[in-house]
Amino acid sequence: MNRRTDPPSIPFIDVAAQRRRLGSAVDAAVARVFNHCQFILGPEVRAFEAELAAFCGAKHVITCASGTDALVLALRARGIGPGDAVLCPSFTFCATAEVAALVGATPVFVDVDAATFNIEANAIAAAVATAKSAGLTPKAVIPVDLFGLPADHAAVSAAAKAAELFVLDDAAQGFGGIYQNRRLGTFGDATATSFFPAKPLGCYGDGGAVMTDDDEMADVLRSLRVHGHGDDKYDNIRIGLTSRLDTVQAAILIEKLKILPDEIEARNKAARCYTDGLGDVVTVPTVPAGSTSVWAQYTIRVAGGRRDALAASLKAEGIPTAIYYPIPLHLQQAYKHFPVGKGGVAVCTRLAAEVISLPMHAYLDAPTQDRIIDAVRRALKA
Ligand SMILES: Cc1ncc(COP(=O)(O)O)c(C=O)c1O
Repeated sequence: MNRRTDPPSIPFIDVAAQRRRLGSAVDAAVARVFNHCQFILGPEVRAFEAELAAFCGAKHVITCASGTDALVLALRARGIGPGDAVLCPSFTFCATAEVAALVGATPVFVDVDAATFNIEANAIAAAVATAKSAGLTPKAVIPVDLFGLPADHAAVSAAAKAAELFVLDDAAQGFGGIYQNRRLGTFGDATATSFFPAKPLGCYGDGGAVMTDDDEMADVLRSLRVHGHGDDKYDNIRIGLTSRLDTVQAAILIEKLKILPDEIEARNKAARCYTDGLGDVVTVPTVPAGSTSVWAQYTIRVAGGRRDALAASLKAEGIPTAIYYPIPLHLQQAYKHFPVGKGGVAVCTRLAAEVISLPMHAYLDAPTQDRIIDAVRRALKA
């Protein structure tokens, strides 16, 4: 007797497939840490920092406990605080603006480009003017490499230079990406990234890092991540925090970094497959010439209020989707009292109503992608 079976459900991000690939290498790396017992700032932390610096080309890598802490540490290292304005996009994960508020500064929201979803560099000058007219001192801008695509760093840096802003790249989603032949980690004054498990380079818990070429800032960051210590560890010369990457996580990341280039390649192959299969029915992501995305998300735009119906019909076929992000920050309760740059953030609001992300990871196989593409096409025709 023939029984109809539902097709298996598809993971949105397949951390388990990568775990199977890494298998015993990760087990052995973790076992080494359990044997030497240097759980805090052990040898793997130093080794990983050196390998990450070599990978991205930054002079210094200072690991810490999360991507959010990486952003906070960089703002603190720069002395940004009350009375200062920190410009950032409204269409991003909350941490980008949260860190400005956490150090006592004021986030000022800037619109994004509709094609790349990244900060609109042409809107930075207007947001600087808004900050000034609110009595704030514009100090920094945080471009975000959203969904894995590098922001337009040349344009951001020119606008920041004109207004004397510190540029802190939020590469939590884009680390590994390339802009004008250079890896992220080398743009602006400092770069922050996250090793949250779902990120393109994720660990098995929380973790983050700051990258910079500035020797003085690197020293301050190393002090800040351990309570603001001076030359002697019990002589504290500034107020810091406890924000270190666990040695176990560093050991895992050393193994994961080895396969990152290969995974970035696989993610790009998967992205090309989606773009070829869907480009005629929805707005697919744009990658400007000279940039390589790491595809933290593959995000399409579905206009005309059809997004929820698409999500529901894909769900019914065992295909998960996610909305990153349904509410732009300037409309959220915790952030709506912060200023929006002159010119507004209309693109952020529109994108929040239209975006939907499809399953994306380095282990998507062709039959699975064909199934997803076919389901999206059928749902949009219905
Ligand atoms: C753009 C962006 N910035 C910052 C963060 C914060 O990273 P973490 O979760 O490691 O604190 C994230 C994490 O999702 C992010 O996507």
